[in-house]
Amino acid sequence: MTKYIIRGGKPLFGEVEISGAKNAAVAIIPAALLVDGVCRIENIPQISDVTLCLKILEQLGANIRTINRHAVEIDCTHIHSTRTNYDLSRKIRASYYLIGSLLGRFGEAEVAMPGGCNFGGVRPIDQHVKGFTTLGAKVMVEGGFIHAFSENRRLKGANIYLDVVSVGATMNIMMAAVMAEGNTVIENAAKEPHIVDLANFLNSMGANIRGAGTDTIKIRGVDHLTGGTYAIIPDQIEAGTYMAAVAAAGGQVLVKNIIPKHMDCITAKLVEMGVSVEEHEDTLLVRRTDPLQKTNIKTLPYPGFPTDMQPQITTVLSLAQGTSLVTEGVWNSRYRYVDELKRMGASIQVDDKTAVVEGVDHLTGAPIQAYDLRAGAAMVIAALAARGESEITGVQYIERGYEDIVEKLRSIGADIRAVEEPDETLESGVG
Ligand code: EPU
Repeated sequence: MTKYIIRGGKPLFGEVEISGAKNAAVAIIPAALLVDGVCRIENIPQISDVTLCLKILEQLGANIRTINRHAVEIDCTHIHSTRTNYDLSRKIRASYYLIGSLLGRFGEAEVAMPGGCNFGGVRPIDQHVKGFTTLGAKVMVEGGFIHAFSENRRLKGANIYLDVVSVGATMNIMMAAVMAEGNTVIENAAKEPHIVDLANFLNSMGANIRGAGTDTIKIRGVDHLTGGTYAIIPDQIEAGTYMAAVAAAGGQVLVKNIIPKHMDCITAKLVEMGVSVEEHEDTLLVRRTDPLQKTNIKTLPYPGFPTDMQPQITTVLSLAQGTSLVTEGVWNSRYRYVDELKRMGASIQVDDKTAVVEGVDHLTGAPIQAYDLRAGAAMVIAALAARGESEITGVQYIERGYEDIVEKLRSIGADIRAVEEPDETLESGVG
């Protein structure tokens, strides 16, 4: 069991390199199951969720060759099973992508029900199931597994209208449909950068997908996909998290290897709060010298403000002058971390989906707990800005999605260290 000790109150200065996008990687790795041949995937983030995805594929018979820290070759030519390892796949939410990919390639998938939810509320997959059944599959739950199969093996293209804008359902249906017979249209599709990334990956392997990044995605089924090389996009949320850290702690940091367009929704809010953000080709120079100003934020599907930045931005707002309103527009609830911020002196009242954040002059260090990945990132930001020392437990959640976070923060002047503690069990399952 690792915990982070952070001595806060020091502004951050220097440069930080952003890794490949977690939520693209955890879809693209399962999508390699659709490919007959070797996929070389580059710019893979070194995070525990990726390690898990690769292990699951290996157990299904994939041949995985590590090229270097950020590149692997995956060969799914000789997959021998369509039933995933129960213990591995139930640990990670993104294991639901194995349903779409196995179903799309082999006409059958048995995948453990995805991991539990740590930020409150239900995380349904009814839209994924609706997509699969519309494509002709039967889907049932048996012994803790979701069993999806198609009697004719090959699915049949169809028109699918999503009742809610769902990232996971959009990508899962895309994977199932890519080799279906005929055409599929996904309406009311999600538009996140990682949706475009998955479509680009599949197209580079021979798929025919158009419209990814708009709300209508058109897929013409192809007979098979062949190998190739693909590099994952930079992580919008990791970049936003470092930007938020600079906003909270002060200083000046060059955030490198990003796609500025993907950052617009986050940049706009930070600028409203008085943070200076200068855009260059694939970098953003983030500077905060003056006091932070209040603003209101509502999370929405892309290109709206991302829900995966909500805990981090609320933490920054807890230090702004005035009262801000934060509204969660994607999940039913995502405010479990607020009690931890209150331990540090934040003044936040949560009423259903809205948090009323009354800015305070400063936070003070405290023992705090990361309850999930982004809540954990918020704890790190709070601790970096706070006066005194904080001790963060539950950091295994943070390490699911942030590559080398301790080293990256140290390189921009943060006083953070990871220490090993005797074991203690925590439930897993977000992302
Ligand atoms: N929803 C349904 N039915 C479904 C699917 C979703 O009602 O079948 C609802 C959800 O309850 C939610 C909304 O639709 O209210 C959006 O959910 P979505 O399906 O888009 O979420 P997801 O695919 O399960 C991914 C990310 C999350 C991120 C959301 C929203 C992965 C592995 N996870 O989840 O990322 O919050 O999209 O952008 O890609 C994180 O990285 O910390 C994280 C939680």
